[in-house]
Amino acid sequence: MKVAERMAHIKPSATFAVKEKARALRARGADVISFAVGEPDFDTPDHVRQAAIEAIQEGFTHYTAVGGIDELREAIVEEFRANYSLTYEPSEIVVSCGAKHSIYNVAQVLLDPGDEVLIPVPYWVSYPEIVRLAGAVSVEVPTREEDGFKLGPEALGAAITPRTKALILNSPSNPTGSVYTGQELEALAPLVIRHGLAVISDDIYSRMLFDDHRWTNLAMLGTALREQTVIVNGVSKTYAMTGWRIGYLAASGEIAAAVNRIQSQNTSNPNSIAQRAALAALTGPQDCVARMVAEYDRRRRHMLGRLASIPDLRITRPSGAFYVFVNASAYLGRAYQGKTMGGSVELASYLLDEAHLATVPGVAFGDDRCLRFSYALPMSQIDQGLDRLAQALSRLD
Ligand SMILES: Cc1ncc(COP(=O)(O)O)c(C=O)c1O
Repeated sequence: MKVAERMAHIKPSATFAVKEKARALRARGADVISFAVGEPDFDTPDHVRQAAIEAIQEGFTHYTAVGGIDELREAIVEEFRANYSLTYEPSEIVVSCGAKHSIYNVAQVLLDPGDEVLIPVPYWVSYPEIVRLAGAVSVEVPTREEDGFKLGPEALGAAITPRTKALILNSPSNPTGSVYTGQELEALAPLVIRHGLAVISDDIYSRMLFDDHRWTNLAMLGTALREQTVIVNGVSKTYAMTGWRIGYLAASGEIAAAVNRIQSQNTSNPNSIAQRAALAALTGPQDCVARMVAEYDRRRRHMLGRLASIPDLRITRPSGAFYVFVNASAYLGRAYQGKTMGGSVELASYLLDEAHLATVPGVAFGDDRCLRFSYALPMSQIDQGLDRLAQALSRLD
């Protein structure tokens, strides 16, 4: 049996690959510290779990409306009103099986073969693959480290061609933690409007902000941009609910209806019990979010301080999410026992094999000079891991 042609172009998720290698090492008894995690280390809050238990006990275990139960879509409408000052109808909201599924659905709905999609580098690993699965072309747009890896109007303008259909923006960013200011988005807006670009705004980390950052996305900058933007968000990161698989999008009526149509032919509705849990997350007490964010912030500050004391690493200060993207290019070209660190994969493999330290090689995000460190792990492990990092890097020559 032969797999379809399109599979030749699809890579497995690099972050899952590292996790798998670390898991195999652990299974052999190694004490691996993982900075490669892409999910909160906290448990889902109790009241959310309780809502799911009640849903099961009530027998809320049947198919639901394809795009999600009314109460949940109304809660999402309210979330957009309260946190974004944006007004949507419940019919413009589609709930899916995680934000990744929402992005996949949007790509299927918006993109024709040959359409170009602009993806600022570094990017979340799945964007190019999701774009290619839709038969479209992923176009990597360079950003500058000194600009916090954020897309500027010059680079955006230079990348637009008559085939450009869409732009994917992710703020706060995975992997850099960078957050776009309103002013930076205003600078992109005229190009987005003039060229009629569809914007996929992946806001999954929008509630994880530090240093009093005010959060904005393109849709919030006016009616035209609201119409051109599909907002993707979800409960996975904010409420430590990665395993529940609930994400959602907001889009103007026609796009939302098309997403509903496509979802009706693949997953049908997202899990009924998880929808009730997501409803409890969005409408219940929010102090759990504040507590988790405060703890990420404490770890972030600690980690930034310690990373700064390791020679030759360049750090871009993250303002959101739970990642630090570290430029380790000074260590590339150095060697350990005759093996040269040619790029981020060799460096990450060296750290995993020799120091039992898992990181994600930057090449997975389009930047081979860097490594991504997550700080969604307890402080004691962060400290131990950074001790190992400093030691392992000092052994390279
Ligand atoms: C930028 C970004 N978007 C989307 C997702 C997917 O979220 P979900 O687990 O809800 O599918 C992730 C998860 O790692 C992410 O980092």
